[in-house]
Parts: sequence; structure tokens; C-alpha cells
Amino acid sequence: MQIPRLHPDTIEAVKERADIYDVVSEHVVLRRRGRDYVGLCPFHDEKSPSFTVSQSKQMYYCFGCQAGGNSIKFLMELQKHSFSEVVLDLARRYQVTVKTLAPEESRSLQHQISLREQLYQVLATTAQFYQHALKNVAHGALEYLRDKRQLSDEVIGQFALGYAPGGWDTLYRYLVEDKHYPVQLVEKAGLIKPREGSGYYDVFRDRLMIPIRDVMGRVIAFGGRTMKEGVQPKYLNSPETELFSKGRTLFALDAAKNGIAQFDQAIVVEGYFDAIALHAAGINNAVASLGTALSLEQVKLALRYSESKQLVLNFDADKAGINAAEKAIGAIADLAYKGEVALRILNIPNGKDADEYLKSYSAEAYRQLLANAPIWIDWQIQEIIKNRDLKQATDYQQVSQQIVKLLKNIANKDTLTYYISHCAEILSLGNSQLVPLRVENLLTQIAPEKPNNSDKPRFYQRLEKSNYASSNTGQSKLTSQQATLGKTENSLLARAEALLLRIYLHCPGQRNNIIKELEERDLQFSLSHHRFLWQNILAITDEIHDTINSEIDLISRLQDICLEFTEESELISHLFILTEKAKTEIMRSPQVVQATIARMEEVLCEKRIQYFVKLLQECDSQIEPEQYDSYYQAFYREKIRQQELERQRQFTIIDLL
Ligand code: CTP
Ligand code: MN
Repeated sequence: MQIPRLHPDTIEAVKERADIYDVVSEHVVLRRRGRDYVGLCPFHDEKSPSFTVSQSKQMYYCFGCQAGGNSIKFLMELQKHSFSEVVLDLARRYQVTVKTLAPEESRSLQHQISLREQLYQVLATTAQFYQHALKNVAHGALEYLRDKRQLSDEVIGQFALGYAPGGWDTLYRYLVEDKHYPVQLVEKAGLIKPREGSGYYDVFRDRLMIPIRDVMGRVIAFGGRTMKEGVQPKYLNSPETELFSKGRTLFALDAAKNGIAQFDQAIVVEGYFDAIALHAAGINNAVASLGTALSLEQVKLALRYSESKQLVLNFDADKAGINAAEKAIGAIADLAYKGEVALRILNIPNGKDADEYLKSYSAEAYRQLLANAPIWIDWQIQEIIKNRDLKQATDYQQVSQQIVKLLKNIANKDTLTYYISHCAEILSLGNSQLVPLRVENLLTQIAPEKPNNSDKPRFYQRLEKSNYASSNTGQSKLTSQQATLGKTENSLLARAEALLLRIYLHCPGQRNNIIKELEERDLQFSLSHHRFLWQNILAITDEIHDTINSEIDLISRLQDICLEFTEESELISHLFILTEKAKTEIMRSPQVVQATIARMEEVLCEKRIQYFVKLLQECDSQIEPEQYDSYYQAFYREKIRQQELERQRQFTIIDLL
């Protein structure tokens, strides 16, 4: 598309309206962190978020790949569009009048924009027409809404519900003949279809009409429900149009966005009337998915307004609803496994949908159900074991296979550890002595097949791998440094050790603390050149203590020693340098030392866990129950410690250097 040069006023106006959070959050799930937002960078592959959005600065910046800019730049990069294309798109979206530099060009541009404007107009007129028809010509439609659906006139008005009259071309005649809308426009709005031969007929006839509105409240489509038993389809929706895309729209989002922000949670139901009934009951954070499988885009749309990204899927408890929930989980599993969405599944007891439920129960009761809705993984486990008899070999086998499949996808280590023991308990059928064995079984099964790789249990290799993977974000920006640091710096542990040594060397205030921690926890440096450096440090430190002259410069003494040990010196000399920035960071954060030491202890802890697992495998719980029990206790203690350590090192030490 050839775009004429845009008037600077237009560009300014667009910049003013296109809020960076609004624009970015359509493409990236953002989470609040302090005054800013963070998310996974769309411009490079990463597992933990280093992409930040600042509303106050109206900027985005990625610490991983250094991409950054304002909302226009963001869209240009993401969509590979030109500056003008993006500005124009945004102008349409935010209804900014487009001025170009040459007036003739401006006219052709306005023409394109005005198609959309005209579509909005014809749809708004149609919604009014249906509303009018509901009150004046409806054959039982108003009664249907009031009696069968128990909706008040206020709610009927709030959702602008209407009625499409029964004739073949009532709307056609109204819009085209009375209101003089161009036929093509009405057709493009999805309201009429050409007859075979000639002429047009209405898409919606004798149906209860539910306008579907965009976030800004503009009508973009309709859903129409028949009021007669047995008429197919029960619901008829507008076709996809210039304005309406089913997979990108959530019904009632315009009415729900404030509620979602207020409750910090979005409820997604299946049906229009479920959403309407919830709003009518004062539960105004509900949207409906328009009957299709819930898409990732729809989820992101709803989550834009929930700060802690909480989503409850309340789908029907019948087979179709459960399938729909499974599908929805499938579509957003990636987000869910990463913890980017806090997903719960609500199945109302006795297979009711929200609309039916609220006819006999209070809003309070529904809120209670919401509060008790299981987290999606628990829900899936429930579904797996539902109607199964685990005492039957085939059932048991199938269940455990499905559980393994589920667990395999859980990326977060804490979550995985938790669910492994949870599932092990389920599979132990109340016999607690079996739990460790089941844990071990699950551990082996969820590990990817990888023959001839040391004698470590595979699970731990996997965990280590995921560890390193999650530190990759930090690594990606370190690449240039890494090149100079050499391969040995590659692992998280090695980097933790290096950091600790650096802190010791450059921050004298931390020295006593570091020595104390290492001694108390009985920790060693694992890399030999680090051990070499540490021994020399200790020797010199003793010397410093013994002399009155405390001005002996530790680093220069070490460098002297390095002259003799060229091999080691190559590997450690980079530790003698610390940038001022990193130094200030370290001084400011006492947790850094904690975190690095925690990482070192984790390695020990993992070794002890492997040791106890081995003992458990070799011990028969039937023959030596007490011995077995004590191994298990020890194993368990280490697991707990491991989790504690992991928390301690959450502080991303890697980002410092
Ligand atoms: N739907 C649709 N097309 C259909 C059937 C259903 O688009 N042919 C969508 C509608 O958005 C509807 C939702 O799926 O609201 C759920 O439909 P369903 O479970 O069949 O019915 P209910 O919502 O229970 O409908 P009602 O209460 O009106 O009977
Ligand atoms: Mn229903």
C-alpha cells in the first residue's frame, strides 16, 4: 500500500493515544513489577521475562536483546510494517483523524478509513433497529427474556438486546430502502446475503439478537438465538467481517474490563447468556468465548486487565464443555506452564451452566464456587482419575501414563516437585510406604530418554538442564563477555562461584561474612581454578591478619602469584576486575552473597538427594521398613532444603556481571 506522507499533527495525536501498555499487551502478556511491566520478549526467544514496559516513559526495553522504543517502533518491529503503516493503523484504532500533507491524497486515505467507520455506523443502526423491534414487534421475544431468562429491563437495555423480525428482508428494506445505506456496505457488515438470482435476504430472522461489542463498546457483530425448540442452529453468529473476528473477540469484554481490573480476575464462560446472567447478578468480571475453542488471543485480551493474570474458565461440565476446557488449556498451556497465567477451572456441580446456576443460587454462592475452583493442573489430575479404579491394573497403568504425560510439561521446578509428590501419593492408594517408590518411578518416567549419560538419575539431569535454560536470558547478553571469560564460565554454578570470588576480592566489607557462610555450610568451590584462587586468598588473608600493615593489597598479591601459575592465571585473572556498576549493585544487595552461596549448597544438596535415592532403591521397604523410613525422611529433608535454597537464589545473580 502506497501511503501518502502523514501530517505531523496526526503522528503526534497517534503517539498521544497509543499507550505503550495498551499496544504491547495485545501481543505480550505483561505482569506488573513495581511501576513497570515485564513479560517475555517477542523479539527473541527467552524463558524468563527480560522485556520491560514503562508507562511513565511510554517506552519498552528488553534487557535480553536490547530492543527498545515507543509504541510505534514496537509495532513496526513486530509486524514488519513501515512507520506510516503503523501510524495509520493506530489512527484507525484510536479514531484519530488522518491528515496528510497533500489534500488529494488525504481523500483516498479517508475513503479506506471510512469503510470501517461506515460499518460501525450501519451496525449501530441495526442494533437500534433490533432493540426497537424487541419492544414493538417482537413475537414473544420480550417475554422470553423477562420470563425464561429472568432478565430485568435494565439488563436487557445494558446489553442492548433486541429482536430480528421474522420476514425475509425486513432489515434489508429498513437499511437500504429507508436509510439509503449502500447494499455492499450492509453485505460487508454481515447482515444480508445475496439471493440466488437477484436481491438480498436478512441473515438474522426471527431471532433474539445479542450485539457483540468491541472493547470500546462499538457494535461489531451479532449473535442471534432462536426462541423455538428444535430450530437449528440454536445460535447464529455474524460471519467474519472487516470488523469482526471471532477468535479475537470476547463477548461482554467492554462491560467486564473494569470488573476484571477490580477483582483482578477474569471469568470466561461459554455462553452469551451465562455472561449476561453473571453481570445481572453483579459479577461483572465475566466474558464469554463465543462458543469457539478459547484462543490464546482471547485469553490475552481478558488478561490485559488483570494485574496478577488470574483466569477462571467456567465451562459446562458436560462432555462438550470438558472438551472445550481441555482445548482451551491446550491453547494456553504454554502460558500456564510458565506461570504467565494463573488458571483455574470451575465446573459447576450437577452439570449446570452459570446461567442455570444463578437461577437457583445466589451470586455469593457462585463466588464461593469461584474461590474453590481447582488450579488447572489439579483439575486435570481430577479428570484423569475420575471414574477410575486404581486397584485395577489397566486403570492404574492408564492413569499413571496420563499423569506422566501431564507432569512432563511442567517447567517450573517447584511446581514439578510439588506435583510429583502429590501424584505419588495418589498412586500409592493410601499406603504411605509406597510414596518414595512412586516418586522415584515418576521421576524416571518424566525424564527424557537419554542413554549412557553418567550415573546420575535422569531427572536431575533434566532439572539441571532446565536450570541452565532459565538462566539463558542472562546469558544471552553476556555472550560477548563470555567469549573473553572462556567456556568454564558457562554453568550457573561456575558463575555463582566466580561472582562470590569477585565479591570477596572487591568488597572487603563482605569478606568475613563470606568466610563464615562457607565454613558453616561446609562448602567448597567446585572448579579447580576457583579452589586454587580460594586457597591463595585464605593464605594471604591470614598473612594480612598477622601483620600490622592491613594495607596489603590482596589483588596485587594474587596477581604476583599468578605470574608463576600461568595456566590457572588465565582462568582467574578476569576475576580481578569488577566494573563500578556491578560493584555498586553488589554493595546495595546483601542477598547476592546469600544467593551465590545458596547455589553452591544446592549442588551438595543434589548430591545428597541422589545418594538417598540410591539407598532407597536398594532398600526393601517390606524387609527393612524402619531403615527405609529413615532414608525417606532424609531424602525428604533434602528435598525441602533444596526448595529453600532455590528460593534463596531466585535473586538473579547472573544479571549483575
Ligand atoms: N454457540 C454458537 N453457535 C451454536 C451453538 C452455540 O455460537 N450453534 C455459542 C453461543 O455463544 C452460545 C454458546 O456457544 O452462547 C454456548 O452454547 P450452548 O452451550 O449450546 O448453550 P447455552 O449457552 O446454554 O445456551 P442457552 O442457555 O441459550 O440454551
Ligand atoms: Mn444455558
